[in-house]
Amino acid sequence: MRPVYVFNGPNLSRLGTREPDVYGAETFEDLVELCRKAGRELGLSVDVRQTDDEAELVGWLHEAADSRTPVVLNPAAFTHYSYALRDAIAQRTAPLVEVHISNPAAREEFRHNSVVAGVATGTVAGFGLRSYALALRAIAEEA
Ligand code: DQA
Repeated sequence: MRPVYVFNGPNLSRLGTREPDVYGAETFEDLVELCRKAGRELGLSVDVRQTDDEAELVGWLHEAADSRTPVVLNPAAFTHYSYALRDAIAQRTAPLVEVHISNPAAREEFRHNSVVAGVATGTVAGFGLRSYALALRAIAEEA
């Protein structure tokens, strides 16, 4: 099975209790299970991680770039301002799909801009946790 990383940024460990009206009632553990199941169906071995730490996320992206491993990335709030993350993503050669549970374009003004979208292969947003399954399918067909 081909390896794929699913990296998640700050506050995503809080799924289930965090603003359920926006992010739904499912937990981070549910997200991990959904990704593993989708991966199995697509022939992908999925490694799901979450961090609140920008430096740790940058380090994981270096790891993905060095091993040429495709990535599904929910950068969470870093989406909107982290040039460090953008620069780390720009180093990769394998596909990287930016995902969002909500549709940031339909929310507050500060969420309308993604500083990482321009260096991603593509973006999936607004489909709840299903955004991850759709992104994994895109990776399976792209890689
Ligand atoms: C998010 C959208 C971001 O604007 C927000 O900061 C998040 C989650 C999403 O998945 O919808 O933390 O990336």
